[in-house]
Amino acid sequence: MPNTEYYNDKVVRQFLLAAAVWGIIGMSVGVYAAAELMWPALNFEIPWLTFSRLRPDHTFGVIFAFGGSALMGTCYYVVQRTGHARLAFKKLAAFTFWGWQLVCVLAMTTMPLGLTQSKEYAEPEWFVDILIAVVWVSFGVVFFGSLARRRIKHIYVANWYYGAFIIAVGLLHIVNNLALPVSWTKSYPIYSGVVDAMVQWWYGHNAVAFFLTAGFLGMMYYFVPRQAQQPLWSYRFSIVNFWALISVYMWAGAHHLMYTALPDWVQSVGMAFSLVLLMPSWGSAANGLLTFNGSWYKLKTDPAAKFMVMSLVFYAASTFEGSMMAIKTVNQFTHYTDWTIAHVHSGSLGWVAMITIGSLYAMAPRALGRPEMYSHKGMEVHFWLHMLGTLFYVGAMWTAGGVEGHMWRATQPDGALTYGFLDSLIAIKPMYVIRWLGGMLILSGMWVMAWNLWHTAADARARLIKPIPVPVPEPVPHQVPAPLPAAG
Ligand code: HEM
Ligand code: HEM
Repeated sequence: MPNTEYYNDKVVRQFLLAAAVWGIIGMSVGVYAAAELMWPALNFEIPWLTFSRLRPDHTFGVIFAFGGSALMGTCYYVVQRTGHARLAFKKLAAFTFWGWQLVCVLAMTTMPLGLTQSKEYAEPEWFVDILIAVVWVSFGVVFFGSLARRRIKHIYVANWYYGAFIIAVGLLHIVNNLALPVSWTKSYPIYSGVVDAMVQWWYGHNAVAFFLTAGFLGMMYYFVPRQAQQPLWSYRFSIVNFWALISVYMWAGAHHLMYTALPDWVQSVGMAFSLVLLMPSWGSAANGLLTFNGSWYKLKTDPAAKFMVMSLVFYAASTFEGSMMAIKTVNQFTHYTDWTIAHVHSGSLGWVAMITIGSLYAMAPRALGRPEMYSHKGMEVHFWLHMLGTLFYVGAMWTAGGVEGHMWRATQPDGALTYGFLDSLIAIKPMYVIRWLGGMLILSGMWVMAWNLWHTAADARARLIKPIPVPVPEPVPHQVPAPLPAAG
């Protein structure tokens, strides 16, 4: 029986489609926001088109709608394959798909209208938060229920990461969003002052840790060995890294609040844990890369493998950068500059988006029951568009961050500032154009992926509805058997 019939892949396919659609929407909003930073008149003085409202729409769109749909879809795919069992609770699984899409639509439409809690990465108001909590708990029930009915005794490491991602994100979301509603559209957090800031960044940082890292590591640990057609370089090392990562990440959030009203020792604890965090981060990156030993030739022929290898390189680079930025003296320089934006996007466009795209290319044909993607060339074009776009984006923002950091700190012998803030904005203008161009390249790549997925799915549908008959070749003259020679 084909895998697609034995496993519940309907919900996987739905999430796959949603990831492609939200990826395009979230990144389009990012490209528009990038253009507004260059040409501010593009807001046409319409409130919902202003940068301040589009920015959270972009972050929600790419992290929770695009990343979330990809994570949930791949999680359902992986837990079935590694446990050799069908997904538990079919109807609840369908509810998680439709519930999550409703969450995304509500969040993405209410934020531009100005309905927000003003907490970064947790902007949606209380009524959306409650729905998120319900969907998330259901997601956990389906995942752990499926694990419980597995037919393989061992729980493969990818599931450990997916499990940690589900538990931690649920916990973070509920604690950070405890609030008192005062009307249908407005609520106030139960925390105040520095406690509010600490809870918010405990959440914000661990959203990076468990949403943007642990979940995608789950994806990586399944799809990288699959695509490299090699066993994981070291299984034991992956387990060591798992425990190290989840026990260290929770303590590093204070690096977002350096030189604030937070007690100094808490900031130092955040810095120390951020430095230690480099070890499990590089451990996973190395494990993934070394899994390609013996399969490096695939980089010449397989675009999905290329996406995966580059995602691991960016994972190593952005975590090294993060650990360095957490050093207080370095943070003095980088904080508030576009360097942070460069770090964010080398993590998100380099690591998160590339491992997602590579995994989707690996998963889509299998989930659709096709031998391969519709267009190999399309995947190749996508790889180069994404790669170039990311280099443009990140390179431009690093340069801008360096320029800003130096200009803001430059002083005259009498202590007066050498440059006004406006001078620094004028200096980085060309960098903003390059970032926007990079974004356009990345977005074009996403359209190529959508086109390719569409045709792969259409191909699958056509074969399902009307099997294409295999043509029986007409015998050509020289193949007609010659008459046997007469006996005697
Ligand atoms: C076409 C690709 C993209 C473009 C053009 C783009 C553009 C932008 C822009 C203009 C900002 C605001 C920067 C600022 O406030 O100065 C931003 C912020 C952000 N973007 Fe993107 N983005 C893209 C893709 C992504 C992806 C794929 C992710 C995550 C998976 C992501 C995550 C974020 C985050 C987390 C922030 C907030 C950064 C911070 O607060 O420091 N972006 N993006
Ligand atoms: C060892 C791992 C990492 C460490 C130690 C780390 C550290 C840091 C530091 C110090 C900042 C700057 C805080 C500030 O000055 O405001 C930061 C910002 C950020 N990082 Fe990382 N980082 C790591 C990995 C990552 C990865 C892999 C991603 C994305 C996939 C990521 C996403 C972000 C985001 C979104 C912000 C901006 C938060 C905001 O201000 O809105 N980080 N990180």
